Amino acid sequence: MAIIFDKSTKTFYLEGKNITYAFFANRRGYLEHLYFGEKISRDHLFYTRTSIRRNAFPAMVPGEDVTKGNVDPSVGPTSYNHIPAEITFFGNGDYREPTVQVENAGGDRLCELLYYSHEILDTKPKINGMPSMDGGETLVVHLYDSISGFGADLYYTVYDDCDVIARRAVYKNGGAECVRLNRAYSFALSLPTQSYTAITLEGAWADERTPEYTPLRHGIISVDSKYASSSSINNPFMALLAKGGGENFGEAIGINLVYSSSFVLKAEGHSDGTTTILGGINDFDFSWKLDAGEEFETPEVIISYSNEGLGGMSRANHDALRNHLINKRYAKKSRPIVINNWEGTYFNFNNEKLMDIASAVAGTGIDTFVLDDGWFGKRDDDLSGLGDWVVNTKKLDGGLKTVIDHVHSLGMKFGLWFEPEMINEDSDIFRAHPDYAVGVPGRERCYTRHQFLMDVTRADVRDYIVEAVNKVIRDNEIDYIKWDFNRNATEFFSLSLDADRQKEFSHRYALGLYDLCERIVEANPGIMFEGCSGGGARFDPAILYYFPQIWTSDNTDAENRTLIQYGTSLAYPLSAMSCHVSEVPNHQTSRIASMKTRADIAHLGATGYELDTSVFTDEDKAAVKAQVKEYKAMEDLVLEGDLYRVENPHTGNHFAFMLVSKDKSHGMLTVYRRIFKANEAVYRIKAMGLDKKKKYYVPELGIILGGDTLMSVGLAPDFGPGDFSTVVYHFEEK
Ligand code: DGJ
Repeated sequence: MAIIFDKSTKTFYLEGKNITYAFFANRRGYLEHLYFGEKISRDHLFYTRTSIRRNAFPAMVPGEDVTKGNVDPSVGPTSYNHIPAEITFFGNGDYREPTVQVENAGGDRLCELLYYSHEILDTKPKINGMPSMDGGETLVVHLYDSISGFGADLYYTVYDDCDVIARRAVYKNGGAECVRLNRAYSFALSLPTQSYTAITLEGAWADERTPEYTPLRHGIISVDSKYASSSSINNPFMALLAKGGGENFGEAIGINLVYSSSFVLKAEGHSDGTTTILGGINDFDFSWKLDAGEEFETPEVIISYSNEGLGGMSRANHDALRNHLINKRYAKKSRPIVINNWEGTYFNFNNEKLMDIASAVAGTGIDTFVLDDGWFGKRDDDLSGLGDWVVNTKKLDGGLKTVIDHVHSLGMKFGLWFEPEMINEDSDIFRAHPDYAVGVPGRERCYTRHQFLMDVTRADVRDYIVEAVNKVIRDNEIDYIKWDFNRNATEFFSLSLDADRQKEFSHRYALGLYDLCERIVEANPGIMFEGCSGGGARFDPAILYYFPQIWTSDNTDAENRTLIQYGTSLAYPLSAMSCHVSEVPNHQTSRIASMKTRADIAHLGATGYELDTSVFTDEDKAAVKAQVKEYKAMEDLVLEGDLYRVENPHTGNHFAFMLVSKDKSHGMLTVYRRIFKANEAVYRIKAMGLDKKKKYYVPELGIILGGDTLMSVGLAPDFGPGDFSTVVYHFEEK
């Protein structure tokens, strides 16, 4: 890993594990992008600039002899519009999407951000109040508009152990008067062609993160959220697969925004055939007042690269998140195997029922009982109680203590559900402080699940939440917390903000959420937190910084989960996905899949159980015990292994994930067949990611085979008759 500045050409070479990122400051001071891809020699790359098209676009940049980097008036003017950029800005002849748009005190919106200086720091600085990757050597390039004093600092970090670059921008008002940021994206990345397909993750409740493929073209394709949450509608992720590439070959770039509120990611194809990828905080309904001397920090973006297709890109992303972002205390630590009571009881429980559910699985290896929604306030359904974080002793006589003591006596840990950012109209806290709920005075609020959003942009509201949640934690022995978030913002207004700052709401919501996480999650390091959002609606890297795993979807049907887990894996490692074996017929789809299939699919993540175990037979208990034992034996692959997506359930009748340890000493292949067809065709599947030269024992076959054989000849799974079946193979080096 190295960050090199070549003084003679003013070129920066950022070199990661297997990647190079290069750009230079041209004679005017504009940062010209040169290259991002596989690691290359530190050659002069100016020869690539010969393709700059000079046409009728307005220009401020004097002509240059592109081969020497010198001014040559005979070449004629070159417009910003055609220079591959590290940051684009409005006006000055550039009609591309700006990375930043600033409204100066005089009303004009111009800024020309040119190179001023740079520094190379030993350690990557944290972003104030926002999650970000850790890291070492970091380049900061200071840009500056000499007329207004407005500036931008661009941060770049590369890594020894993963093929990603972390980027962000900090905008600075160096002028004497207040300015308004109407757009403040985190980055712009130039690509020399439009020969890419963008892959984004669209979704809905119970149908999260389906890959969608859009070829780049002239004009803009974009995904965004306007929800003040990263949302299930679009994930803050975009992959770019170069023409001719696929899952296992070709160039692929991943863009992952470390942000939990309204975002936008865009790919804009330009008239000269090039592309800019850019994005960050959504500028829809956004504006930020920046007083003289103030700075505005943008969220970080993680940009991964692979020449091993989408699979390689995902593995780079997974390594980056696991090694440098996901909550350090738990990222690679063995996870609790939970029994959660939600699908087993919903709101209908008492002490005895909960204790029966826990007792039934004692000794199976399930090690944590999680009490879900309904334990607090006057909460017998979803109409009331949110915000009143005091135990409902009518339901739970003796308080939580009776259940916690019982769970602990079984040798298990205890987990509890909260929805800290929410408030019901029918709650004591709403009666005392109706203003705590987000709303515009004089207007009705929108209801979702009968609840409102707490205004966490307000410090006093956050203080209430922190104290209420931390009091329950202080008063009880809690080992695990599930943090839910079941509705989105609708009013986007805070009583605490001046009229001319109301468009700061969505970003301030993110900052408020992160502050809550610092004061609840970070203040209780012994408790493992799981994220949740009406299923997996707020599944983003910023949440993973605090919560090492996130409930992937309320859809727990094994068949549908193959689709959801496949899509989610494009950006996120398996250890981030919470996956449970649940009731059948499934509560969302009414489908019946066998216990084995449900477990095999739930094992491809942070596994657990979510059903009424109090009715378990001895046979059920024995099955769970065997499943947990099997999971524990391969949990390291979920936590740290490399993922190979062997079969895509979105395009065929099969789904298959192969996990391989980093040293290639062991692995596991889970194959799933959706529909059985009488007299069906022969099916063969090739293992991936093993070492060709190693020999592996395959216990399911009782034989030793070469890695080359397994990856070239493949395996012939026997699913037997029936739909929704799985076959699992293990590979142990011999
Ligand atoms: C939505 C979550 O996704 C569920 O798992 C459950 O916790 C409910 N909320 C509880 O209200």
